Amino acid sequence: MGNEESTPMDESVSPQTLHSRTLEAVAEHIKSGRVKNVVVMTGAGISTSAGIPDFRSPETGLYANLARLNLPYAEAVFDISFFKENPEPFYTLAHELYPGKYRPTIAHSFIRLLNDKGILLKLFTQNIDCLEREAGVPDDKIVEAHGSFARQSCIECRQAYPEDDIKQHIAAKSIPRCHDCNGLVKPEIVFFGEQLPAAFFASRDLPRDADLCIVMGTSLTVQPFASLPEMTRKTTPRVLINKERVGSLGSGTDDVLILGDCDDGVRKLATACGWHDELESLWAKTARHDPADLPGSQQTVEKTKDEALEEEISKITKDIDETLNVSKWHEEKVRGDPSKAPPSRPVSSVTSSEPTVPDKGKHEDDQSNLGHVFVSHTADKAAINPAEEDKE
Ligand code: OAD
Repeated sequence: MGNEESTPMDESVSPQTLHSRTLEAVAEHIKSGRVKNVVVMTGAGISTSAGIPDFRSPETGLYANLARLNLPYAEAVFDISFFKENPEPFYTLAHELYPGKYRPTIAHSFIRLLNDKGILLKLFTQNIDCLEREAGVPDDKIVEAHGSFARQSCIECRQAYPEDDIKQHIAAKSIPRCHDCNGLVKPEIVFFGEQLPAAFFASRDLPRDADLCIVMGTSLTVQPFASLPEMTRKTTPRVLINKERVGSLGSGTDDVLILGDCDDGVRKLATACGWHDELESLWAKTARHDPADLPGSQQTVEKTKDEALEEEISKITKDIDETLNVSKWHEEKVRGDPSKAPPSRPVSSVTSSEPTVPDKGKHEDDQSNLGHVFVSHTADKAAINPAEEDKE
C-alpha cells in the first residue's frame, strides 16, 4: 500500500466514543453495529487518481497551473463576473472535465459500499465530475454542494437548456446561448459569486445526526462547505482521509487522521472492516471497456497515475491559454488595432461575441463579490460565519 498512516493525536485527550484514535478502532466501531448514519464529505482529492486535477495541490493543481496564464486571477475561470465577460476559459475547461470521460476511483466505490451496507446517511461533495453517481451512490444520498454538470440553464432568464445541445457545444468548445433570450448558458455549477443549491442548506444540519463522519480529498478551503465537519456532535468520530491535515480535523476527541492517498486509505479501512473483496469487486464493475479512454483505469493507473494527471493539467492549461490568446486577439481586433498579431494557434471552434478581457489584477484580493461561495484563505483561522449564510 501507499504511505498512509493512522496518526494518533494529542495523547493526553481520551477518546469518548472510540477505543483509540486509530483506523483499527474506527473499523471496530463500524463492525460493532453502532454506526448507522455515516456522513461523508468529499473534494477534488478523491478524483485525482481518475486523472482529474484538484484545485490547490502545489504542482498538479488547477489553480497553480492557471496562475501563469492571462487570467485576472486563477479562480476567475469559476467566477460568475468573469464568466459574463469571457466565458471561453470555462468552456475550454468544461470540454476537458465534462462527465463521461473518467472512471470512478476506489474512493468513490467506498462511498457506494457504505450505502450498500445501509449506513450512508448523506454524501456532501464539492465535486462536479458526477463520479459518485457513476460509482452507484444513489441520487437522494448526494448533496452536490457546488452543483454539477447534471443540469444547465440561462444565467439571465434561468430557462433550462437542453442537455443534448450543451453536449454539442462542449464537444465543439463553443459557447451555448439561451434559445429564448440569447443569454449565456452555464451548467449549474456553483461559481464564486453564486448561491449554493437549496439542497445544501436543506441538508447542512444532517452532520449533527451522524455517528461517523468521513472527510476525504478536500483542503476545506471553501466556505460554507468547510464548516460542515464542525456541525457534528463533539463525540462523533471524524475520520480524515487526505494527503494533508486540514481544517480542525485532528482536534476533536474522536478524530482520526489517515494521512496519505485516499485510495490507499479507503482500501485499508475497508480491509479492517472485512470488506476488502466487496470493495474491490464494486470498483471492478466501474471499469470501462476501452482502456485508451481512461486516464484513471486500472490498466494505466499503476504505471502512469501521476503522468496522466500531469498530462491532463498541461493539456488544460495549454487549451485555456490558447482560448485567452484568441479572446485577447478578438478584443484588440474589435477595438481597431489590426496590427496586433493573431494568436499562434487559433482555436477556431471557440466562438464568442466580442468578448472583453478584464484588467489583469482587477479582482485580486477582492472577495467582496464572492457571495455564498468564498475561499477561506485562513481556513485554520476558521473564518466561518454560518449565521451569515443562514440569513440568505
Ligand atoms: P483542493 O484542491 O482545494 O483540495 C484537494 C485536497 O485533496 C488537498 O488537501 C490535497 O492534498 C488532497 N489530495 C489530492 N489528491 C489526493 C489523493 N490522491 N489522496 C488524498 N488526498 C489528495 O480541492 P477542494 O477542497 O475540492 O469550488 O476544493 C474546494 C473547491 O475549491 C472546489 O469545489 C472548487 C474550488 O474553487 C468552486 O469552484 C466553487
